[in-house]
Order: sequence, then C-alpha cells, then structure tokens
Amino acid sequence: MKVDGKHFRSIWREHDGWSIGAIDQRRLPHEFVVAKLTSCEDAAVAIRDMLVRGAPLIGATAAYGMALAMREDASDAGLKRAYETLVVARPTAINLKWALDEMRMAIAPIDPLERAEAAYARADEIVEQDVEINRGIAGNGLKLIEAIASKKPGGTVNVLTHCNAGWLATVDWGTATAPIYLAHERGIKIHVWVDETRPRNQGASLTAWELGHHGVPHTVIPDNTGGHLMQHGMVDLAIVGTDRVAANGDVCNKIGTYLKALAAHDNGVPFYVALPSPTIDFAVHDGIRDIPIEQRSGVEVTDMTGRTADGRLETVRIVPEGSPVANYAFDVTPARLVTGLITERGVLKPDRASLAAAFPERIAAA
Ligand code: MRU
Repeated sequence: MKVDGKHFRSIWREHDGWSIGAIDQRRLPHEFVVAKLTSCEDAAVAIRDMLVRGAPLIGATAAYGMALAMREDASDAGLKRAYETLVVARPTAINLKWALDEMRMAIAPIDPLERAEAAYARADEIVEQDVEINRGIAGNGLKLIEAIASKKPGGTVNVLTHCNAGWLATVDWGTATAPIYLAHERGIKIHVWVDETRPRNQGASLTAWELGHHGVPHTVIPDNTGGHLMQHGMVDLAIVGTDRVAANGDVCNKIGTYLKALAAHDNGVPFYVALPSPTIDFAVHDGIRDIPIEQRSGVEVTDMTGRTADGRLETVRIVPEGSPVANYAFDVTPARLVTGLITERGVLKPDRASLAAAFPERIAAA
C-alpha cells in the first residue's frame, strides 16, 4: 500500500539480500521508522515487543526469523533453537506456529549447507502467499459490500472495524481492510468507523493512519460507541480480523470484539470476520475453552503516550497509583454471533463442516 505516494509492504528483504526491513509500528502514527532485523533474536524481539504485530505479519516475521537463524547456525540444534525461540514470542496468533511449521518442514529434511538459501526461499513464498490470500479476501468481501451498496443507491456503506486488521497487520492489503480498499478503488462510497482499540490503540494509531494514507473516509470512535451507532442504523456491517479461528468457528480477536459482535447481533447488523487460511486452527475444537489468551503488561492500561502540541512524545499515567489493572489482549467471539468468515476461498459459515470443506489440507496438517 502507499505511504506518501511510495509503495510499502510491512516487511521485506533488504537490498543486501539477507537482512529484513520492517516498519516499526510502535512509532506510528507519529513517526515512520524502518527497523532492520539481522538475527533470529531480532525477529523474536520484534514480535514480542510489538514492533510488528497482527497475526499474518507475526507469521511472516517468524519465517524470516528462521531464515536469519539458518545464516547463524544451520545445524539441527540451531533449527530447534530458532523454532523454540520464535514460537513462544506471542501466544495467541496461530499464524506464528503455522509459519514456523512450514519453515521447519521445508528445511529440516535438507543438508544444513543448503538450509539458509532454502529458508529464505520458503519465507519469501509465505510472504507472497499472504498478499495473494488477501487479494482473494478482497474479492470475496467486495461482493458483500456491493450487495449492501446496491440497496442504498448513492448512499454510503458504513463499515465498523475493531483493532488493526489492515495492511500493517499483514504483508499487504490487510484482511478486514482488503474488501474496503477494493471497494474504495472501485468507486463505491464507503466510510469506516474505526474503534480506537484500547489499550494499545491499534485502531486509532494504525487503522486510521492506513485509511488516511489511502484516502478512505473514516472516523475514529471510542471503543464503547459501536452499540449506539448500530441502534441508530449507522453501521451497515462490521468486518474484523482474527488471530485464530477454532475448528468450530469460534473467533479469537482483539479484546472487545466479542462485545461488538453482541451489539451487532442485537441490532441485526451483519458481523463478518476476514481471515487467511493459516489463521484456522483445526487442533482447537472449542475456541472459548482452548485458545490461549495473552495477558500483557498493566503499563499498557495505566499509561498513555501521545504527541504534545509542541511536537514532543509524552507518556502520562491515567490510573491512580496503586489501583490494580488487568490487560487481557484478546477475547473469543462464539461462532453463533458470526455472520460469515471471509476467506480466500469464499465466504463461509462459521462451522466445522464449512471450514473443513473449504480447507481440507489444513485438517490433515492439524
Ligand atoms: O495484538 P495485535 O496488535 O497483534 O493484534 C492484532 C489483532 O487482534 C487484529 O485485530 C487483527 O485482526 C488480527 S491480524 C489481521
């Protein structure tokens, strides 16, 4: 996607052919800074510290992390160490484990002398595959937006989204945003309600930044606003991303997604989840019971960082000293509240039979 007229992806191989460039998302929307990853440990830290974030991008970063590791030590022990370092970097997004399993399958059987080259090649494929998948999601989601647009000639289609499931969360295009970008490109009048998404503010800081750079009309709203907008007919559909979809169609996504799904259900607003197939976890049969929910530092709740009027970045505490806080990063929306899953192979019902019919190869791998 474009940043000030220049095309960027969220992650790429640098000109030297081996080091990895990535946008440091902790600095957005205030500064556009590119980070260079030169070791497996750099990749693990980038994931852990949320320099990169979003399930598909976490997977892509882990894939390149494995390639960087193979430059350092391509022995069986080196491979095992790299896998174990990266797989624990964050717990909830299954794309991390998916990408590492793909990498291990590609490189474990071959001679250590050839592993580094093969690892970069497989990581490049994973990255390109992510872009292709998101284009598929764009086309399938566009049909839903077109159907709504056709019922309100000349009117604007209002989409609500939560967190950032945009191109910054993937390699390019995004998942939830892919149909939105395509609809905008096709001249459909579209407007996005962007949940700010406390406590990390991925909506206010990242989704709004992306949409703004792409010229998509949008409005940032406090997280608690969606229900009110839905009651007043101001949301035509919700589209969110996901970090893991269980075999039964339960959807894990950024904390607060469940409440949006409840409000959508109560108001008859279609609630869609956009996902690439590597986000499906057929090994988890009940999302609410079995998906591990990351708990992050309380500092994300107690403190807020922003830019002052004179241009300085400042962090302030907004919670009384001594008040305990809790910071669950994700929640699970039960399948019964999900209207459909927008995938690269079509819009599916959120149930095991539909997921299995569309992605049989993923069951075999689970
Ligand atoms: O904690 P993050 O920023 O890595 O979480 C990302 C999300 O939860 C997004 O909402 C997204 O939908 C999943 S990735 C497309």
